[in-house]
Amino acid sequence: MLKTWYFVLLCWLSLQLEANPGLKVRITQKGLDYGRRIGMELVKQAVLKETFPSWSGQESLSVVKVNYVISRLRINAVDFPETSASFIPGTGICLSVARASATISADWRMNAWLLKGKGEITVSISGLFISIIFNVSRDSTGHLSTLLHNCQLSIGSVKVKLSGRSSWIYSFLSGYLEKPIHTKLDKNLCLNIKYKIQMMDAQLKKHKVLSQIDTFAQVDYSLLSSPAVFKSHINLDLKGTVYPVGNHTDPPFMPAPFALPNQGDSMIYLGVSNYFLKSASLAYYRAGAFNITISEELATTFSLNTSLLKYFVSETSLSQAAACPVLLNLMATLPPAVSLNADRCVLQITGSVEVFAALPNSTTQYIFTGNLTASTTANLTITKQKLIISLLLKRFQFSLLHSNLGFPEQKSVVENFLSYALRRVVIPVINDKLGKGFPLLNLAHTSLTGPAIKMNQGHLVISTDVHYQPVDREDEDLHSHS
Ligand SMILES: *[C@@H]1O[C@H](CO)[C@@H](O)[C@H](O)[C@H]1NC(C)=O
Ligand SMILES: *[C@@H]1O[C@H](CO)[C@@H](O)[C@H](O)[C@H]1NC(C)=O
Ligand SMILES: *[C@@H]1O[C@H](CO)[C@@H](O)[C@H](O)[C@H]1NC(C)=O
Ligand SMILES: *[C@@H]1O[C@H](CO)[C@@H](O)[C@H](O)[C@H]1NC(C)=O
Ligand SMILES: *[C@@H]1O[C@H](CO)[C@@H](O)[C@H](O)[C@H]1NC(C)=O
Ligand SMILES: *[C@@H]1O[C@H](CO)[C@@H](O)[C@H](O)[C@H]1NC(C)=O
Ligand SMILES: *[C@@H]1O[C@H](CO)[C@@H](O)[C@H](O)[C@H]1NC(C)=O
Repeated sequence: MLKTWYFVLLCWLSLQLEANPGLKVRITQKGLDYGRRIGMELVKQAVLKETFPSWSGQESLSVVKVNYVISRLRINAVDFPETSASFIPGTGICLSVARASATISADWRMNAWLLKGKGEITVSISGLFISIIFNVSRDSTGHLSTLLHNCQLSIGSVKVKLSGRSSWIYSFLSGYLEKPIHTKLDKNLCLNIKYKIQMMDAQLKKHKVLSQIDTFAQVDYSLLSSPAVFKSHINLDLKGTVYPVGNHTDPPFMPAPFALPNQGDSMIYLGVSNYFLKSASLAYYRAGAFNITISEELATTFSLNTSLLKYFVSETSLSQAAACPVLLNLMATLPPAVSLNADRCVLQITGSVEVFAALPNSTTQYIFTGNLTASTTANLTITKQKLIISLLLKRFQFSLLHSNLGFPEQKSVVENFLSYALRRVVIPVINDKLGKGFPLLNLAHTSLTGPAIKMNQGHLVISTDVHYQPVDREDEDLHSHS
């Protein structure tokens, strides 16, 4: 019995693992190099702001015991002339820094036999080499997780200079401080890095895997499996399902496998599957985004009025009134069908439409009802880290189901009216609803540069570089926009 359950569990687990991703992200060596450059700059800034606890110690100088306290330790300058980052296949990422140097100053107090003194200490460290490897994996909740795997350190030299109301003895003693500082660095630097990576991991765990798109939909960016690390890139497989807000029932279809192109000239490649777009269409449908009501206000704004229907309604009471606004209720009756082809993305909306006139005495008059299928092509653009879809009406089919006015001879008038209404009013209203766009990257202060979209059968690939803007620059940007 237990064995059977174990088997079932294994099958279930392997099924879970075999799920195809809806979105794929690839970071190339070029992306890693950019990340390293930005990363080292940030590390430099962080190190310069770092505060350290004071410490005390004892050294014996032949028979004399010297007690000392080092306090107010601060790093004045750091230099990382040689850094590199590389992918370690199957494991993670290696970062190394060679020939690094730092100047540290601190206050010292010393107490040796009959001598007492205090002053400032300057420590110059040079020829520092650090190489760290950290593992990247997926945690149980689908977050990216990082773990220090290996840290190697070697320190070229440590030079200590004491100043203060000093006499020769202190300069002499400074030589004795070099060894404990060396030891302390040796012991603590890797520990410190390990701690920093743990903090980064905790930060990653706090990152929301579910991202709100707008009032209709959310997208699940959780990792499906641990990142696959290759020599030239790292691949992340993300769930990439779009849900209506508040209901995370998976759609009744599965992602199909697809592959990213073998290119490395952009920093990031992002694969968007047909599944992602289909789940988005379903989510927006379920959330009612394709139920469109053209109110009197909208009809007036867009000059959607009975003058467009004048032949159609010529024998009715409407003809006596001046042009009245035409109200429209469009209800999608199926989730819009999305298909991605090599050269375009097509979205077909199937639904019914009800048409009314808003009479001057504030009542509405029903005009007609029909079934509608509108074929649109989706224009995909990327603006501010977001994939924005806007629809363009290609053609539509209409069949009149019911009319208060009797079926008109002039079917083309109705079609002309609908064509106008769809192009000028309904599609812009849908585009406005979709206009918030799908967030592609969730990195603070980072923008995409030169993104390009390539459509393929069943998926599309976005290739892009990224640009990091330090905080103050972004503040400026915000001000110039407001
Ligand atoms: C890091 O990954 C390597 C290779 O997969 C593995 O052998 C090692 O145990 C991992 N290290 C940690 C700390 O998980
Ligand atoms: C979520 O959506 C599914 C599919 O449309 C539906 O069957 C289910 O009842 C919904 N759940 C909630 C809590 O609304
Ligand atoms: C869309 O409109 C139809 C008709 O009014 C309604 O039955 C359906 O529930 C609506 N869908 C949503 C998701 O609001
Ligand atoms: C009715 O629509 C026509 C054509 O769109 C427009 O020229 C006219 O100004 C509109 N009339 C009113 C009263 O909105
Ligand atoms: C509003 O006007 C229409 C046409 O002029 C008329 O048939 C209808 O009875 C009026 N309704 C009310 C409540 O006055
Ligand atoms: C109109 O659409 C409804 C719902 O999709 C469908 O049941 C009906 O058969 C359609 N009628 C015609 C005449 O196409
Ligand atoms: C697609 O959208 C962009 C930006 O809104 C626009 O410049 C371009 O003309 C559109 N393309 C088509 C075919 O409508």
